[in-house]
Amino acid sequence: MSLIQAIDATYHGQPKVSELEAALKGPMAAMLSKMQRTRVLTWIHNGGRSKDYNQVAPIFQEQCISCHSPKSGIPIPSLTSYKKIHKLLGTDVGLTTAQLARVSHVHLFGISIIFLLTGAIFALSDVPVGARVLLVSIPYLSIIMDIGSWWGTKYLDPTFAYVVIAGGILMGAALAAQIFVSLWQMWAPSLQRAFEPLRGNQEGVPHHPS
Ligand code: HEC
Repeated sequence: MSLIQAIDATYHGQPKVSELEAALKGPMAAMLSKMQRTRVLTWIHNGGRSKDYNQVAPIFQEQCISCHSPKSGIPIPSLTSYKKIHKLLGTDVGLTTAQLARVSHVHLFGISIIFLLTGAIFALSDVPVGARVLLVSIPYLSIIMDIGSWWGTKYLDPTFAYVVIAGGILMGAALAAQIFVSLWQMWAPSLQRAFEPLRGNQEGVPHHPS
């Protein structure tokens, strides 16, 4: 799966693919052998019927229920019976609106606070004011691009997955620039002073900047 397809699948889901199949081709792919996977996928494609369930039941028993059962204590769907597995044969709709709203909220607030802190420090640097305004603003614009496009990918068009990536890159680059420039301007002068005596001050007297 390409990155774009993966982003689309996360937010929009895969209309023709059940949740179980999506997991077996995605995060759960490594949980079973190629042959077992083919058998389970064939079972799913034949309608995931209860009369054929005994052909795949041992695979779920051996490979899945160590985690996917109430006993494991992990908050994931139980796969201990046909009825429970059957529930995962509906179509994969990606993140639900409620889940998406929750992650959007957490990211918007959490990450914006980081921007506020790095931005406040960076605003005191002596970079030309135009560049400062631009670099302080970009992270906010790019997080709106990024998170807005999660919703765009889910409800409008898979093309928004590209904007998710562009927003993420822009956000990372602007944040890195803010941090690097701030640290550089804070530390470079004192580092220079610290190493000055080593560079052979003839009289052996440390140089005191006025
Ligand atoms: C080592 C523990 C472990 C094993 C073994 C395991 N899973 Fe999972 N599974 C998880 C965890 C943790 C998640 C939730 C995290 C995630 O979605 O990546 C998950 C998620 C899933 C989901 C998505 C559930 C949802 O919330 O929509 C499905 C479907 C699934 N697994 C199926 C399987 C199947 C089928 C097998 C056996 C072939 C299997 N898993 C084996 C740990 C496991």
